[in-house]
Amino acid sequence: MKNTAKIHQHFLLNTYPYRGKVFTRARGNYLIDDSGQEYLDLMTNYGVSIFGYSEQSLLNALKRQIDLLPTLHCSFANDVRAEVAKQLVKRAGGKLKKVYFGNSGAEAVEAALKFALLSSGRSKIISMKGAFHGKTLAALSVTNSSKYRSGLEKQLVPVSFAQFNDIESLRAVANEEVAAVIIEPIQGETGIIVPDQHYLQDVAKICHQFSILLIADEIQSGTGRTGRFLAVHHYGIEPDIVCLGKGIGGGMPSGYVLLSTAVADKISRAMQTSTFGGNPVTCAGTHAVLRLLTDEQLATISELGSYFMEKLKTIQSDNIIEVRGKGLMIGIEVSVDRDQVLKELQQEHIIACPAGESVVRFLPPYTITKAEIDRIVQVVEKIIGA
Ligand SMILES: Cc1ncc(COP(=O)(O)O)c(C=O)c1O
Repeated sequence: MKNTAKIHQHFLLNTYPYRGKVFTRARGNYLIDDSGQEYLDLMTNYGVSIFGYSEQSLLNALKRQIDLLPTLHCSFANDVRAEVAKQLVKRAGGKLKKVYFGNSGAEAVEAALKFALLSSGRSKIISMKGAFHGKTLAALSVTNSSKYRSGLEKQLVPVSFAQFNDIESLRAVANEEVAAVIIEPIQGETGIIVPDQHYLQDVAKICHQFSILLIADEIQSGTGRTGRFLAVHHYGIEPDIVCLGKGIGGGMPSGYVLLSTAVADKISRAMQTSTFGGNPVTCAGTHAVLRLLTDEQLATISELGSYFMEKLKTIQSDNIIEVRGKGLMIGIEVSVDRDQVLKELQQEHIIACPAGESVVRFLPPYTITKAEIDRIVQVVEKIIGA
């Protein structure tokens, strides 16, 4: 096992930055490296491990389902999957009445775009500047990052990009030819950008005016991350399509699309399927996650998020441009070398992740404690304070 790092770097396709650690176990909110050292995990695999690593009800649900029936194609019915679909519809509310089960965020975005194009009969799509929706070809087409699109521009689906949080910019490109506007209610990858309170409502109004479908990509902001089941619940809007991923599968690969009846009714059989989509183990994970995400838990996420952000804002430092976020989706924009900050946090046994060019992103588990937050703030202050 000693050579894990070397083997990893030699045999894995080199598309990920290597963060210089080998983790072999985890406990609670901590990853444990190959020498037994614990690291407080605020990256949570980019927002997947929302209840840390030791939530027994979740782990038991997964283990039980592996014994009962680990995989079953969606052309048969399964008790856990059917129940999960029913509960997802109930929790999402609004117009969302049907569920499509896929295996990753990008796959959910692909399906959502197909559903919008097929059901509307229109051909144009609007996304946002700074948007991140994944790296498969259609998802990449609505992702607005030259870093990821470079070399593929000609192969991507044509998309108009409006300025995020600028309603006039959307108004300028919205018309009756547009099938869908796809939007992250809070932009994650580009730097935890929270829009103005009325912005998303205005987006919904423009969509309504031109009968454009509104797709909310809640892969990062959903599943309780911001203190509500969906981030759009803060803003009182009802998207036609919602994408979920990351934490929704209880740690198992997942990417779900929730859609309105009006959209669902126009999707014909076999247009979108997936061998592994809706496999009972992932669904058991989702079932456990939904059970854990009570109103009290959502209130705790909001409270912990406010506590965390308030504490970070007390740090007096010219190196901090802004602390921002919602719930436990938090970013610190820094004027110093961001990657160096991440490195120093890691040396202090705190794992965070990057966003944009200059943001340190925290996506902590919902099980984080105030004592752990206090320690993180102390370490952040030591690294970038004054
Ligand atoms: C908002 C959003 N959409 C889509 C994706 C893509 O998800 P995946 O990496 O599971 O394909 C991500 C991943 O970070 C995301 O944050």
